[in-house]
Amino acid sequence: MSRRVVRQGMLTLADLSYRLARPLIFRLSSAQEAHERMLAALRWADGQRWLIPLLGRLRGLTLPPAPVSVGGVVLETPLILAAGLVKGDGFASEDEALAAVNAGHNIMPGWRSIPALMGLVEFGSFTRWPRLGNPGVVTWRDVHTRSTQNRVGLRNPGARAAAFFLAGRRDRLPRQFGINVAVSPGVSDPQQQTDEVLESLRAFLAAGVIPTWFTLNLSCPNTEDDPRGHQTADEARQVCGAAIALLQEAAGGRESITAEGAEDTEKAQRDIASSSVHSPRLGVGAYGHTLPQIPSPRDAVARERGAGVRGFSERPAGRIPPLWVKVGPNLSDDQYRALLRVFAETGVRAVVATNTLPWPAPDDPTLTAGVGGGRLFARALEVVALLQAERAAHGHPVDVIACGGVQDGATFRSFAALGIAVMQYWTALVYRGPLAGALIAWEGGL
Ligand SMILES: Cc1cc2nc3c(=O)[nH]c(=O)nc-3n(C[C@H](O)[C@H](O)[C@H](O)COP(=O)(O)O)c2cc1C
Repeated sequence: MSRRVVRQGMLTLADLSYRLARPLIFRLSSAQEAHERMLAALRWADGQRWLIPLLGRLRGLTLPPAPVSVGGVVLETPLILAAGLVKGDGFASEDEALAAVNAGHNIMPGWRSIPALMGLVEFGSFTRWPRLGNPGVVTWRDVHTRSTQNRVGLRNPGARAAAFFLAGRRDRLPRQFGINVAVSPGVSDPQQQTDEVLESLRAFLAAGVIPTWFTLNLSCPNTEDDPRGHQTADEARQVCGAAIALLQEAAGGRESITAEGAEDTEKAQRDIASSSVHSPRLGVGAYGHTLPQIPSPRDAVARERGAGVRGFSERPAGRIPPLWVKVGPNLSDDQYRALLRVFAETGVRAVVATNTLPWPAPDDPTLTAGVGGGRLFARALEVVALLQAERAAHGHPVDVIACGGVQDGATFRSFAALGIAVMQYWTALVYRGPLAGALIAWEGGL
C-alpha cells in the first residue's frame, strides 16, 4: 500500500472518529472543563515513554515533511500549532515556579506529547515573570461559528522557569520548535518593557534552549492591558530593535541568524554556550542598562536528571534564531503599515497575523476575551491581505504567517491564495481534533 493511501485512510478515520465523538465531548464538558481535562491528559502523556514513539509514528504517517522557507528558517512543515496550548502552569512567583522545576514537576503539560503528535509547535507565551492568569471560567466555545473565546490572561510560569524546565529536557525537545515571548501586561514604561523582553530572551539563550524561531507577542487581548498599547511604531521599534541587537550580539555580532549555513553559525553556538551564565556581554541591556544576571540552571538540571549536569557542558544545538512578531487583528491600516516598516527596518523576519480578536466575554460583557476560529477568520484574512500588499509594494523582507480561523482546506486555500506559505492554528484543535494540523495540510493539498 502506498504511503499516500495509508495517509488518506488514517486521516479519514481520524476525521470521522472525531466528528462522531465531538458532540458527546461538547455535551459532557464545557470548554473550560475540556481544556482542563486536556491539560491533565497531556501531563500524563508526556510521562509515558512508550507513548511518545507511537505518537511520533502517527505523525510520520499523517503529516509527512513538506519543507518550506519562511521568516529566516526552513520549516519541516507549513503548519504550526499556535502559542497558547503548550505554555505551562501559572505561578504566583518565580521562586515557586523554580521550586516546582527543581522538584521535577511537569510544569508544561504537552511539552513532549504535543510536538510528537502534531509537529511544529510554538511554546508560550512566556512573560518575564510568572502569571497566574485570570480566575474562574476563562475559555468558551461558539459551536455555531466554530469559534473559541478565551481570557486565560497569559497564565505561564515565567520565562526563566520555562527556560530551566526546557533546558533540563533539551535532549528530548523536538528538532524544530518556536518560543513565544510576550510583553508584560500592565508595564507601561517602554524601557522596562524592553528590558523585560530582553531578559526573557536571554533566559532561553543562556540556558541553551535555542528554538528554531522566537516570536515576540506584542498583543495581549485578554489581559486588562490596552491591547494596542504595545503595537505602536515607536514602541515596536524600541523593543524589536533591542531584541534583534541581543540576538545578533549572542551570535557574535553576525548578521546571519538563519537556519541555513551551519558553518556560519558555529561561532554563534560557541558564544552562546560560553555565555551561559555570567556573560558580561549578555548581561548588559542594548540601551546600556545592566540587567539582572540569570543564575545558573545547573541545580534544576542536576536534580531533574538525578546526576551530573549533562547538557550544560554541551554546545546548544542549532543556531541563533530569527525574530518573528505577532500582532493583533484590531489595528488600523496605517498602524499595520507603520509596523511592517519598523519590522523591516529592525530586522524582524516574519509577522504572525493575527492574535485573537478582543470581544466582550460571554459571562460578563465588561471583561474582554479574545475570539479565535470562525469569527476571527475574515478579519485575519483582511489583515494578511493588507500586509502582503504592503510587503509587495515596498519590498519589505518580512514574511507573513497567517493565523486566525485556519481550520480546513477551504480556509487554508484562502490564505494560500494570498501567497501565504506557513500558517498557525489553535481553534482547529477544538473542532477538528488532535490531528487538526495533518487534516488541514491534507485538505489543503499538501
Ligand atoms: C486558550 C487560548 C490561549 C491562547 N494563548 C495565547 C498566548 O499565550 N500567546 C499567544 O500569542 N496567543 C495565544 N492564543 C492565540 C492563538 O495563538 C491564536 O493566535 C488565535 O487563537 C487565533 O488562531 P485560531 O483562529 O486558529 O484559534 C491563545 C488562544 C487560545 C484559544
